[in-house]
Amino acid sequence: MKKILITGGAGFIGSHVVRLFVNKYPDYHIYNLDKLTYAGNLLNLTDVESKPNYTFIKGDIVDGDLMLKLFKEHQFDGVIHLAAESHVDRSIENPMEFVMTNVVGTVNLLNAAKAIWKDQWEGKRFYHVSTDEVYGALGHEGFFTEETAYDPHSPYSASKAGSDHFVRAYHDTYGLPTIISNCSNNYGPNQFPEKLIPLFLNNIRNNKPLPVYGKGENVRDWLYVIDHAAAIDVIFHKGPDGETYNIGGHNEWKNIDLIKVMIKVMDKKLGREPGSSEKLITYVTDRAGHDLRYAIDSSKLQNELGWKPSLQFEEGIEKTIDWYFNNEEWLDSTTSGDYQKYYDQMYGHR
Ligand code: NAD
Ligand code: DAU
Repeated sequence: MKKILITGGAGFIGSHVVRLFVNKYPDYHIYNLDKLTYAGNLLNLTDVESKPNYTFIKGDIVDGDLMLKLFKEHQFDGVIHLAAESHVDRSIENPMEFVMTNVVGTVNLLNAAKAIWKDQWEGKRFYHVSTDEVYGALGHEGFFTEETAYDPHSPYSASKAGSDHFVRAYHDTYGLPTIISNCSNNYGPNQFPEKLIPLFLNNIRNNKPLPVYGKGENVRDWLYVIDHAAAIDVIFHKGPDGETYNIGGHNEWKNIDLIKVMIKVMDKKLGREPGSSEKLITYVTDRAGHDLRYAIDSSKLQNELGWKPSLQFEEGIEKTIDWYFNNEEWLDSTTSGDYQKYYDQMYGHR
């Protein structure tokens, strides 16, 4: 039986990857290692928690001794590393947490894999899940490819770029069998409501202002989270060592246009007059260092490994909104307590 360590499996994307691997590969044992920060939520995994091929471990990747101990004890064959501090606005407020988890935590995992695998690389794999934000910002034209030079602008993207560099360095220096993917913006069920889509969905639901940064003209390339999980599956199993793959949906939206689509769908579902929630749109001070546009060229992944997105955006956003409406308890539980403090700090002064 293969033993696979998935880090950050209680978070948004990680929980979808854990679910996919536990259900699709009964001959793998999946170890989900997560610190359970504000973003980690075991409610995301109630449907897999009692499966015989699943184990949850609460732990912090910044603790290097613990990483070594876990690798010794469980002899993992593969790692899919998603644990990270992931929100750009939080990185602007507190960069050091991003350095610790995203850079130091990643190097701790690399060191543990290197120490335990001891050059016996056969059948081993260290998969690092990264972001398109490492490439910086595009103008109105063009796409990020795997050859685009790194040019991160936020403490978050700088920390992810740092972690990518360490992963490549461990491949080139020590021969560690690593692979990296850089994905565009994800949306879908279980995303913490600090990110644009679930935050605005929750605010529309509660008739609260929608804080649009700047003029709302920044562009993001949105991918349904289940398509990202499927790409991770394909890359983990079929991608050659040392490679990098970009993952994206070819689905670019200006923030303000995306928000209007959400309002249109939600007003209908909430029985409100069409477009009436547009009155909630409130333009606020722009995010510092706000990247204008991200857009991914995923042709390498499509041509070499045969992955492509399964959902059109119209269907994906409808499914996403339905999920949050059907899981109001999840939404209410994640937006109580500390969340309110965060919200007031982040948006109170704008
Ligand atoms: P998330 O914030 O929803 O989840 C992160 C998870 O990591 C949480 O469960 C948290 O508890 C855990 N974690 C944080 N610090 C930890 C630590 N020190 N030790 C152990 N666990 C820790 O993030 P997400 O949006 O699911 O992103 C997952 C990964 O995918 C990240 O590496 C992120 O950079 C990358 N990514 C995200 C997106 C996106 O649009 N969300 C796009 C591309 C890449
Ligand atoms: O591109 C991949 C990245 O996408 C991931 O690596 C990050 O982990 C993930 O958080 C996401 O980063 P963004 O900064 O693009 O996502 P966010 O949802 O925070 O913002 C999306 C856009 O919406 C961005 O242009 C900022 C804008 N925005 C966001 C918030 C939270 C607003 O206008 N108002 C808001 O309140």
